[in-house]
Amino acid sequence: THQRLDISTITEDMAGQEVVFRCRLHHVRSMGAKLTFLIFRQQISTIQGVLVEEPGKVSAIMIHWAEHLRTGNILLVKGVLQKPQIPVKSASIHTVEIKVSDLHVVVRRSEPVPFSVQEAEITILDENEKVDGRQSQIPDRVRLANRIMDLRTATSQSIFRIQAAVGNLFRSALDEQRFVEIHTPKLQGAATESGASVFKVNYFGRSAFLAQSPQLAKQMAIASDFERVYEIGAVFRAENSNTHRHLTEYTGLDLEMAIEEHYHEMMDVIDHTLKTIFNGIYTRYRTEVDLIKEQFPSEDLVWLQETPRIPFRDAVQLLTDSGWLNEDGEPVSPLEDLATRDEIRLGELMKEKYKTDYYILDKFPRSARPFYTMPDAQDERYTNSFDVFVRGQEIISGGQRIHESKMLEDNMRTVGIDPDDMAEYMEGFKWGAPPHAGCGVGLERIVMLILKLGNIRLASLFHRDPKSFPA
Ligand code: ATP
Ligand code: AMO
Repeated sequence: THQRLDISTITEDMAGQEVVFRCRLHHVRSMGAKLTFLIFRQQISTIQGVLVEEPGKVSAIMIHWAEHLRTGNILLVKGVLQKPQIPVKSASIHTVEIKVSDLHVVVRRSEPVPFSVQEAEITILDENEKVDGRQSQIPDRVRLANRIMDLRTATSQSIFRIQAAVGNLFRSALDEQRFVEIHTPKLQGAATESGASVFKVNYFGRSAFLAQSPQLAKQMAIASDFERVYEIGAVFRAENSNTHRHLTEYTGLDLEMAIEEHYHEMMDVIDHTLKTIFNGIYTRYRTEVDLIKEQFPSEDLVWLQETPRIPFRDAVQLLTDSGWLNEDGEPVSPLEDLATRDEIRLGELMKEKYKTDYYILDKFPRSARPFYTMPDAQDERYTNSFDVFVRGQEIISGGQRIHESKMLEDNMRTVGIDPDDMAEYMEGFKWGAPPHAGCGVGLERIVMLILKLGNIRLASLFHRDPKSFPA
């Protein structure tokens, strides 16, 4: 067949079997003229090859040739599987080895590499040499500047398997809850979140903007009677934020749904969906999670059967009661958004009090929310909106939307938006839209926080941020 043999499917009872597979040469260890050990790699799996002199089969010339092969070359390997005489030391190398009979170079690496995959994977054992608690000897900066080499590491391979799983689990969990997947335009006539952070593009001589979120379109889908929709798509933010958690292009996992009585119906949906994602990762992707932990040490995420849903005001009180002061040395205001350092401190307090890394802050102050957010009928200073936190940092914003056209127009004017600039969006409300709510997750953000990578760029295949852009 044309299906190549996957090293990870080799089992100990296959000893004695002849196999052929393609792989990269990971490492060579010469043991003199008659013996060489070769480590072969496919994605996250490695296996040890032994090349030993055997008259008529493996010559001294072949061994000499093999020990000078460049790591990173793509090889075709043939040989017989066997139990190693001395068990292999590294836990990441297969317990079965291959006694090599044939070796062919399929692709030769021609350029020197900035670092080898093996170098990127070596973990530093000296505590003092750790970078931010990390254990790779190659700094992020160098790894990200040479992304293709970095992506070949077992760590990166695992990160992107998990990223794919988050998307798949989000999709399947929502499909099961009768949601319809939609694809909304990324070229927009107006800003969706705030006017300042949009990328402007030339659209046949007129101005258009790259969508900052599918916000308007997903609400228009609800006005079009789709009832429950979701999208996985690109989101563009012209924020000059050089932080560990902001990108200028990221992948949004968005949902929107009509509600019957209360926006907490939507909160239930996203809560259930997130728990499905967490469970899926820690069960089906255990190998990948553990591989990542070797370089990015973390504890498995802790979440509770019943997710704490804390009103924003009470969370601020918790901070104040603990004696916490904001950057200006004052108690945190219950009427303004939290700064990142306040959020992180709150995460620590929540962990102490509720023993969880995952919780929801409900009823955000109005000043912190965009124009489309439904105010709280009991207290106009607050809104029917929430953020979801993982390890003290935001992964989701969401809430109930204003569905009544007059109220929406008034709210837009208050923040300086002309409803006429969003005519098609407004039609949906003039023609009658059901009460609805929705939310948005940043894919790279949630992967970074679940795996505690400490830098969102490591969860983005080829990242876009204000500073780095390809020439
Ligand atoms: P949301 O848009 O829902 O708030 P977000 O996580 O992107 O999601 P921002 O509004 O961009 O959050 O910012 C929230 C917090 O992030 C701010 O209160 C601020 O503390 C921090 N922040 C944003 N930009 C920067 C920056 N350039 N440097 C440092 N911190 C920043
Ligand atoms: P918000 O602006 O909070 O809300 O974005 C939703 C989620 O997207 C992620 N995120 C980012 N990820 C990487 N880089 C960025 N620059 C960035 N900005 C945001 C975060 C955040 O929680 N329309 C609303 C959602 C809604 O109400 O449905 C919105 O876009 O994980």
